[in-house]
Amino acid sequence: MTAPPLARGLLGAGDPSLAAHRAAHGPLPAVPDLAVLAGDLTGRGGAGFPVARKLRGVAEAARAAGTPAVVVGNGGEGEPAAAKDAVLLDRSPHLVLDGLALAARAVGADTVVLAAGRRSLPGLQRAVAERGAPVRLVELTDRFLAGEETALVAAVDGGPPLPRGRAVPVWRRGVQGRPTLVHNVETLARLALLARGGPATTSTLVTRHVPGRHGPVVDVAEVPLTARLGDVLALGDAQAVLVGGYHGSWVPARAAAGLTLTRDGLAPAGAALGAGVLAALPADRCGLRETSAVVSYLAAESAGQCGPCLNGLPRAAAGLELLARPGPHPPGLLADVHRWAGLVVGRGACAHPDGSVRLVTSALRVFADELAAHAAGRCTATSHAPFLPVPAGAR
Ligand SMILES: Cc1cc2nc3c(=O)[nH]c(=O)nc-3n(C[C@H](O)[C@H](O)[C@H](O)COP(=O)(O)O)c2cc1C
Ligand code: SF4
Repeated sequence: MTAPPLARGLLGAGDPSLAAHRAAHGPLPAVPDLAVLAGDLTGRGGAGFPVARKLRGVAEAARAAGTPAVVVGNGGEGEPAAAKDAVLLDRSPHLVLDGLALAARAVGADTVVLAAGRRSLPGLQRAVAERGAPVRLVELTDRFLAGEETALVAAVDGGPPLPRGRAVPVWRRGVQGRPTLVHNVETLARLALLARGGPATTSTLVTRHVPGRHGPVVDVAEVPLTARLGDVLALGDAQAVLVGGYHGSWVPARAAAGLTLTRDGLAPAGAALGAGVLAALPADRCGLRETSAVVSYLAAESAGQCGPCLNGLPRAAAGLELLARPGPHPPGLLADVHRWAGLVVGRGACAHPDGSVRLVTSALRVFADELAAHAAGRCTATSHAPFLPVPAGAR
C-alpha cells in the first residue's frame, strides 16, 4: 500500500495528550465565520452533506427559535467494518474537542455533547478533564443504527437509540427539542485543522481491509481524496472492492483501481466514500456469501419500526441468502430479490433500507458470474473463511 503521508494530518504521532496536541497544532485561533472557512468541506459521517450549509441552518434555526443550539459530535461508529472514528478519538481527541468548540461558537450553542462507543470513553474522559472543557460525554451502544442522527439525539436525550424519522430534521428540533448540529468526529477534527490553515478538505480517513496470511488485515490511514484507489488499497488478486461500507457498493477490482476517492471520481462506478471503508475481497471468496452475511446482519439491526424494514429488507436478505447457496433456486428468485430491494427505496423513516439495498443490488451486478455458477449448482469460492466482519450470529 502506498498511501502518501500527509503533513500535520489528523492522526498525529500517537500521543493523545493536550501538550502534544498544542506542540503539533498550536492554539486554536478565533474564527470570524466558520461557515465561510468550511468552504466545500463535506461531512465524513456517510452522507457527505456540505458542512457550511448545516452550520448556517442550525445558527438560523436557533436564532428563529430564540433558544441556544446544541452541538453533538458523532463518534459511535456502529458500522462493524469501520474503525476510523475510534482511531481518531484515540489518537487525536483534542482535534475533535477543538472542532466541537468551534462549532458551538459558530451556531450559538450552550450545550456540547460527544457521543462515542464504550472503548473510546476513558481516553475522552482524560482529554475533557485535561482542558476543563464543558463537554458531556454520552456512551453509545454498539449497534448499527445508534449513529443515525435521530437515533443519536434520542440516546442523548436518555431514550433508546432508535431513529425517529426525518419529518422534523434535528437541525430544527433535536436534543431537548432544540436546534442541534450533529457532525461526525472526523468532520469536527477537519474544522479544527482548517481553523489553523491546514489543507483539511483534500484528504480523508479510510478503514482498509486487505487479505493477509492469517486472515484480513485492517488498518486506518489518512489519504488524499485525489489518490487512486489502487494506490490506497493493496488490490493483489482481489476480485472486487467494497467501497463505502455496509451502506456502500461493490465495484469490480479492475474498474476500482483507477478511481479517485472524490465524489465525482467514485460516482461513475455508482460508489461513494460513505463511512470510509475500503475492502479488497480476495479471489478465493464468494462475494454473494459475504454480502448475504452483511445484509442479514443489517436486516436484523433494524427495529422494524416502518414498512421497508419490517417487510422488504428481511425478504431481500432471505432471498439473497438462498442465492448465496449453490442452487437449484426457486424459479423467479433473482427477480424477486430485485423487486423487494426496489420496493424499499425511499420508503423508510431513515436511510437504512436504502443503504442496505444499495449493497444488495451492487452485489447482484458485480457477482453476476457467481450468480450464474450458483444457479448451475456450483460455487467458485475455494475458501469460506469470513472476510468482512459481522457480529456473531449473523453468519
Ligand atoms: C443507519 C445509519 C447509521 C449511521 N451511523 C453513523 C455513525 O455511526 N457515525 C456517523 O458519524 N454518522 C452516522 N450516520 C450518519 C448520521 O445520520 C449523520 O448524517 C452524520 O453523523 C452527520 O455528520 P456529518 O455531517 O459530519 O457527516 C448514520 C446514518 C444512518 C442512516
Ligand atoms: S427505515 Fe428501518 S431503520 Fe429506519 S426508522 Fe424505519 S424501521 Fe428503523
